[in-house]
Amino acid sequence: MDNFSYYCNTRIEMGAGKIDQLPELLKPLQIGRSILVVSDPGVVRVGLVQPILDKLREAGYRVELFDAVSPNPRDTECLAGAKLFVEQRMEAVVAIGGGSAMDTGKAIALLGPNGGVPLDYIEGTLSYTNIAPIVCVPTTAGTGAEVTRSSVITESSTHRKLTLKHAALRPLLAVLDPRLTFTVPKSVTAATGVDALVHAMEGYSCKVTNPISQALGARAMGTIASALPAVFRDGHDEKARFALLESSLLAGLCFGSSDVAAVHCLAEALGGLYDTPHGVANSVFLPYVLQFNALTETAIHAEMARHMRFADASDSDEQATAKLIRGVKELTCGLEIPKLRELPGVQREDFEKIAELAYCNNSTPSNVRAIGRDDYLEIIEQAFEDQ
Ligand SMILES: [Fe+2]
Repeated sequence: MDNFSYYCNTRIEMGAGKIDQLPELLKPLQIGRSILVVSDPGVVRVGLVQPILDKLREAGYRVELFDAVSPNPRDTECLAGAKLFVEQRMEAVVAIGGGSAMDTGKAIALLGPNGGVPLDYIEGTLSYTNIAPIVCVPTTAGTGAEVTRSSVITESSTHRKLTLKHAALRPLLAVLDPRLTFTVPKSVTAATGVDALVHAMEGYSCKVTNPISQALGARAMGTIASALPAVFRDGHDEKARFALLESSLLAGLCFGSSDVAAVHCLAEALGGLYDTPHGVANSVFLPYVLQFNALTETAIHAEMARHMRFADASDSDEQATAKLIRGVKELTCGLEIPKLRELPGVQREDFEKIAELAYCNNSTPSNVRAIGRDDYLEIIEQAFEDQ
């Protein structure tokens, strides 16, 4: 057995109606009285944010709202949020939304008190200290950012995705209320659900995995394989919504202490270039990365096939991996997620650039099978040829 470390300091509160308890849950955290709520315009529009602002104000908090957040959040947006944080003398961040709002909230909690730009922290010219307290309230089942130590931000000038990563970026508190996910549109439910599935699969199988991440990932991928199609069929299936949100949390805890791998490396490259929604970008590459990885790492892919009940003990490992790839394709097809060639802006001339960006991603060395630029290029070609 290899040595490992696992750490998560986030208090997790999950349940239907939990959000109503937010002010009481904040009390013991001693985060001050001035809160910057970070969200995105879509979440504000469907009416999820206002009742939370009201509740916090009723409880005596001074609250400001920052919602200028894009689906693939940019450094410029984080800097605008950080400026507001300083000008309004805010003390803590409560992020309400999907991965974009939570990642932006984490970046603001870092940049507000400390200044600089994201790259300063990645390159080590500024250090991850004095970060404002962060509380996350996910409104989609996917990112797991409510329990992870990372925040992915797009650098506007280069379209590169930058990952801020430090234990101190983990939220103090995560409040998961499945009722907040009822209004999520079908296409977003599908894409974010696949993101959670990939977190579980990559966190489980990558080179730097550990027994705790594997236990969490196994349960998450098993549940997502059945709950995601159920939620896609009926968005008001409360039981399935609960199961999906719980699984995205487990998947976040899984990869949060291991890593993601080649699927995410490609997805981040694509998202940085074309603004492709993160879950969609994961979905288009998933079967082809699995195919590449399973060729030499058959046993662990057979395990995943069995966890997801695409295969059982009677299948050989080779049969199980074939069923895994077929099962994942059928799953994403049933969720009506577009294919690579159907995505806006995607063109062959960019494939080398995507392969290069993916190869340079910090998570490439974590992929279960060694992967080079040419391998990435071939995977992109295969995904593009997929009809
Ligand atoms: Fe992801």
